[in-house]
Amino acid sequence: MTNQGAGDAFVLFERVQKSYDGETLVVKDLNLSIGKGEFLTMLGPSGSGKTTCLMMLAGFETATHGEIKLAGRPINNIPPHKRGIGMVFQNYALFPHMTIAENLAFPLEVRNMGKSEREEKVKRALDMVQMGTFGGRRPAQLSGGQQQRVALARALVFEPELVLMDEPLGALDKQLREHMQFEIKRIADGLGITVVYVTHDQTEALTMSDRVAVFNDGKIQQLAPPDVLYEEPENSFVAQFIGENNTLEGVVKEINNGVALVELDDGELIDCKPVNVSKPGERTRVSIRPERVEMNKARLQPGAHTLKAEVLEFIYMGDIFRTRLRVAGNEEFVVKTRNAPDQRRMQPGEQIEIGWLPTDCRALDA
Ligand SMILES: Nc1ncnc2c1ncn2[C@@H]1O[C@H](COP(=O)(O)OP(=O)(O)OP(=O)(O)O)[C@@H](O)[C@H]1O
Ligand SMILES: [Mg+2]
Repeated sequence: MTNQGAGDAFVLFERVQKSYDGETLVVKDLNLSIGKGEFLTMLGPSGSGKTTCLMMLAGFETATHGEIKLAGRPINNIPPHKRGIGMVFQNYALFPHMTIAENLAFPLEVRNMGKSEREEKVKRALDMVQMGTFGGRRPAQLSGGQQQRVALARALVFEPELVLMDEPLGALDKQLREHMQFEIKRIADGLGITVVYVTHDQTEALTMSDRVAVFNDGKIQQLAPPDVLYEEPENSFVAQFIGENNTLEGVVKEINNGVALVELDDGELIDCKPVNVSKPGERTRVSIRPERVEMNKARLQPGAHTLKAEVLEFIYMGDIFRTRLRVAGNEEFVVKTRNAPDQRRMQPGEQIEIGWLPTDCRALDA
């Protein structure tokens, strides 16, 4: 899904600011437009303001400045029971004294739905998360993962147009987590629900979302589809936060025809794409993904700058090789290569040359 104009936004944050204490802003001038049916993830480190944004959207917190609109109407003017928002929280607080079926029926009772329709919807929602036979149990009689699925079913049972999920899979082991990522995505797509999802797990964000908003320090650092975020980070924070990344520091020497010549701190020269630098003399942090580094000189463009590197470690990982190098003083420089017949296994101590396409090497803010 592409960027939506403000006109057809289903959820709209307009210049939203939030301060809890009247001094520090924990959300700073946030603008965000979410389309109907979109799966948008807020991703960022602890304390970056993700939950705060979700709480304001749910109407549990009010914005200090700015406005949040749902289907064109300010959220504060819509009574809670008419907001049509389902929610799943990290601690999936099910009501402990109610059975699973009663937990699910609760949001329907609140909406004055009749008994037979209620039972029908509860059954369908439980089936959806493969918990159909557990309706009579109490939450304490379920595993963590099962409780998580029930919490998801309860958020979906009244067929909300918008579902907010705050770290909903935080308590699950890796395998169940991956299974539930797939399930949530499938259910949301199937029902055409708009989802605002919060996580600090970047793999989860990349695999589930139409777009990801990377948060840091109360601001969206970049808002983009997963592939753009990974391949075209706009600043050093995003490059470091999303995926594995190699960083080299230096100074911009010249910028010509869309290529920046950078002198690394050890004196070597490399070609990069100028992304977040504008003129010679600026310090820059150059970012290159481990799978875009070339150790086979024959595959490089004629005239490409190469760098000397020393192999420090070789790790065989089955499908890929992971080689750690010392490059321009950086001893954590990682190269990933596919385990293909023409790829050699490097030995620690080997002196080699590496290079890359200038377009794969991004000159970002220092
Ligand atoms: N009720 C509150 N009163 C005062 N400060 C708060 C309150 N809730 C959150 N904060 C502060 O606001 C900032 C943003 O918190 P928030 O919960 O939105 O972060 P988050 O991105 O969800 O982090 P996490 O990944 O740890 O859940 C933090 O500095 C936090 O301490
Ligand atoms: Mg949070």
